[in-house]
Amino acid sequence: MAASTAPVANNLEAFFMPFTANRQFKKNPRLLAKAKGVHYWTPDGRRVIDGTAGLWCVNAGHGREEIKQAIAAQLEEMDYAPTFQMGHPRAFELAARHAAMLPGDLDHAFYCNSGSEAVDSALKIALAYQRARGEGTRTRLIGRERGYHGVGFGGISVGGMANNRKFFGSLLPGVDHLPHTHLPQKNAFSRGQPEHGAELADELERIVALHDASTIAAVIVEPCAGSTGYLPPPKGYLQRLREICTKHGILLIFDEVITGFGRLGASFAAEYFGVIPDLMTVAKGISNATVPMGGVFVRKPVYEALMTGPENAIELFHGYTYSAHPLACAAAGAVLDIYRKDGLFQRAAELSPYWEDGVHSLKGTPGVTDIRNLGLAAGIDLESKPGAVGARGYGAFVKAFELGLMVRQTGDTLAMSPPLIVEKNQIDEIIDIFGKAIRQAA
Ligand SMILES: Cc1ncc(COP(=O)(O)O)c(C=O)c1O
Repeated sequence: MAASTAPVANNLEAFFMPFTANRQFKKNPRLLAKAKGVHYWTPDGRRVIDGTAGLWCVNAGHGREEIKQAIAAQLEEMDYAPTFQMGHPRAFELAARHAAMLPGDLDHAFYCNSGSEAVDSALKIALAYQRARGEGTRTRLIGRERGYHGVGFGGISVGGMANNRKFFGSLLPGVDHLPHTHLPQKNAFSRGQPEHGAELADELERIVALHDASTIAAVIVEPCAGSTGYLPPPKGYLQRLREICTKHGILLIFDEVITGFGRLGASFAAEYFGVIPDLMTVAKGISNATVPMGGVFVRKPVYEALMTGPENAIELFHGYTYSAHPLACAAAGAVLDIYRKDGLFQRAAELSPYWEDGVHSLKGTPGVTDIRNLGLAAGIDLESKPGAVGARGYGAFVKAFELGLMVRQTGDTLAMSPPLIVEKNQIDEIIDIFGKAIRQAA
């Protein structure tokens, strides 16, 4: 039969869904058909509160008119232009705006299309930097247990979530991991940053003693781990990590794909914690998820170390066809305008105590073993059912959706991160539905 591009009857079979139990989903699908503000609607018109800003990415809320107009205007003017050996004004303009809002001397921006690409780009820039400054033996990369850095081979190698690694072979060589910082026996139900665990950063000294600093290029961590169930860093932990990296000439990379652009009530976690990394990866909130975009923000000395050699030599043999895609740049520029005009980072900071009280009001709900929060996000651990890890979490996630709330589930941990435009009464509604979902799924 001849291949055909004619429309076919809709069915759920052909789409191979990412990070989803395909067969289970297709028997009982959860479809989203429309979005505005902090809400989604299902195809049959049922309203669902977006308790997760999509996938931690729609920080300014859905359906923002200003972003739509900026993308449409850019499409009208110029749909695409390459940024290999060519350029377009919007890319330079956006980089200058990002540089201006970044803390410290993080002042150069490399663009890509996702968080995973941002992580792989950052790891490659780190390796290239070490080589450029005559430290080519520094090839080792250090991640952290329970870390999530996307799904590229670099990202899963430094990442620390077993299921994301174990199916995919031997991964990158020369990678080691810091211990994770989840200490529920000491820190359960902490409000904000937990008290205990700063000393876990000293494990980097142990890794240095084992491998020698001269073999280590970079350490990558999420300043506040997201996908593993939202783990705010223990007080003092990031400062210690920064000190040890500086002492040994190791680059520190903050993966701010989730924490960047307001989630903690500051532009970036680096600003929030007062700890400046050498490289920072971003995505998600950079474009409010309207057009895929990611980026690596780079400190001046790192950029400058690469700007050596003959002027006609390419300094970094790395890039993507869609690096700084004009539509992504247009969207990201409009998003920055919204963040500023609506004061959304400040708003997130002001709402955080209310959010904290709300999520911690769930303490005592049967089956809840830990609650963590920082900024406008939270992680809640549920007790696993005997012999069925993940069943309780999945049950609560499905129940929440049925009751009109979208949350994020990883095993028996649930996470929430509403758009930064959320109102207090909507926070109340989120907490109310979430509590009911946990109780009904128990
Ligand atoms: C910290 C972190 N890094 C990287 C990624 C990967 O981003 P993407 O899914 O856009 O590739 C994510 C996605 O959730 C993330 O949370």
